[in-house]
Amino acid sequence: MGPLNLEINSGEIVAIAGPSGIGKTTLLRTIAGLVPPLHGSVEVCGQINPKMPPRGSLGYIPQRLGLVRHASVYHNVMMGALAGHASRWLPFSSEARRMAVESIIAMGIEEKMRTPVRKLSGGQQRRVATARTLAQRPSVILADEFLGELDEETMSSVMESVKSYVQENNATLLVVEHNIGRAKKLADRLLLMDDGRLNPFITDPIVMEVK
Ligand SMILES: Nc1ncnc2c1ncn2[C@@H]1O[C@H](COP(=O)(O)OP(=O)(O)O)[C@@H](O)[C@H]1O
Ligand SMILES: [Mg+2]
Repeated sequence: MGPLNLEINSGEIVAIAGPSGIGKTTLLRTIAGLVPPLHGSVEVCGQINPKMPPRGSLGYIPQRLGLVRHASVYHNVMMGALAGHASRWLPFSSEARRMAVESIIAMGIEEKMRTPVRKLSGGQQRRVATARTLAQRPSVILADEFLGELDEETMSSVMESVKSYVQENNATLLVVEHNIGRAKKLADRLLLMDDGRLNPFITDPIVMEVK
């Protein structure tokens, strides 16, 4: 990774935009501790280069979702709630169930609660992945194009729900969003990742802040 020096405070929403293949997903994966940084270091919630992300406190909505496709919406979201509970050494209680149901409702997919994920549309599946992460109650959320495939109305409501979560919990949201209009609406700060060339096969992208 090139000259990237980024500090994000709690309560802040930062969006990253940039051309396809520039390394946005890789940046999120690096922060999540899924790939080691080539240079420098990553600090998340006071832990430097965590081999495992600080359990429970870091929520990741991957671009490829990583849902259990044969399991129901409820079960998928419950996995997030239970992961969050386990990380805080809380017993698996009705509280976890409440978190799961609340997040499903916040994403507007309660009618699909018992439906296997594989039967849902792309946009609905994306909302399941978002609900799973909210149910985990993380203090940092890394979201990779989580508003993709959503119609305008659904997109606004999903955006508002996630924004409220961040504000109410003084959480941090780092979101990859290729739609600049959306990114500006969502975030306090917008970063552009680019290599200054048209060739996307790069090894040293630069990141600049857009005012
Ligand atoms: N700094 C880098 N140096 C070399 N290869 C990289 C770097 N960042 C990303 N890549 C590679 O480039 C490809 C696209 O990266 P990705 O993170 O998926 O881009 P994006 O999400 O912006 O479309 C991947 O195969 C990834 O391994
Ligand atoms: Mg990507």
